[in-house]
Amino acid sequence: MSADSEAAAPPGTAAQSPAEALTEIRALVAAGTPLVGALAARFQRAVHALDPAATEDSLAVLPGNRGVHLYDTIVSWAPIVAGEQVIDLGCGSGGATRAAARATGPEGMVVGIDASPECIAEAQARTDPDLPVLYRRGDVQRLGTVPDRTFDCAIASMVLEQLDDLGPLLGEVFRVLRPGGRFVASVTAFDRLRPIDAAFMGAVIAVVGRHAPGALAGRASRASIPHEPLDQAAFKAAGLATVEEQDVQFAVVMEDLDDAWRVFSRTYIAQILDEEGQEELRRILTRRTPHTLYLPLRFLRTRRPG
Ligand SMILES: C[S@@+](CC[C@H](N)C(=O)[O-])C[C@H]1O[C@@H](n2cnc3c(N)ncnc32)[C@H](O)[C@@H]1O
Repeated sequence: MSADSEAAAPPGTAAQSPAEALTEIRALVAAGTPLVGALAARFQRAVHALDPAATEDSLAVLPGNRGVHLYDTIVSWAPIVAGEQVIDLGCGSGGATRAAARATGPEGMVVGIDASPECIAEAQARTDPDLPVLYRRGDVQRLGTVPDRTFDCAIASMVLEQLDDLGPLLGEVFRVLRPGGRFVASVTAFDRLRPIDAAFMGAVIAVVGRHAPGALAGRASRASIPHEPLDQAAFKAAGLATVEEQDVQFAVVMEDLDDAWRVFSRTYIAQILDEEGQEELRRILTRRTPHTLYLPLRFLRTRRPG
């Protein structure tokens, strides 16, 4: 089985390309099948296989942010310093991994882990071989042979929203951190949208409701990590210290449809829509631009006590 087909096919089915998987999943979700559990995981795998650098290329450096940068923010919020051992969980195309490695310098080391072979290949291609970085394919909820009490810091940049249950990842974070080691994460904080932006996003989500109703079922995406009781309980159960938070607004400046589509076309929102749905989304974005969306991101920080 090729890496591509492996990324898209559920266990036990014939090999399927990520594009075929996406077409099938879009049809199911358009018919109302809830995008949760295994289907949500298949959808995310297919999207990452087809566009492994979506987060880095569309969100990490937004033109409206005058230098505010997703990965440098998480590295300085940790803060990661020279000589540290760091693990980047769900590293994607390696943007945060490389930012962390620039902070650790050659005396330190950063391990980037991702489930997607396409993301690992993209991360390797984007990484200067002189940086102290190692990429490995793996499940961040089961780090297997990664030894206990090894890392000074663990990072999860825009990953927690993708997990149905934070418990397994947080348990692994606790296990692989040294006592006193920090865990930092960035998540979207849709509970903090300005009213005018909530109206903008409401119009976008209404398109999803019309064309991909299954995507709005269940807990396909979270609004407010770590405030949901289940998430709070997961941090506590893992034995991690109380979570500190910093909210940051990322300005998505959209003068016209081209600007808006550059960002939206690479999101899960657009990717779950079939052609007709994407066409309607473009019409809505045309009508609603120019608009500057203040995208609220939340940076979380906790540590293994000790
Ligand atoms: C939204 S992307 C963020 C990528 C990167 N951290 C960044 O900020 O650019 C989420 C990443 O998490 C990875 N991921 C999701 N669930 C995972 C899991 N259980 N194990 C390993 N990687 C996972 C996906 O493959 C994807 O690359």
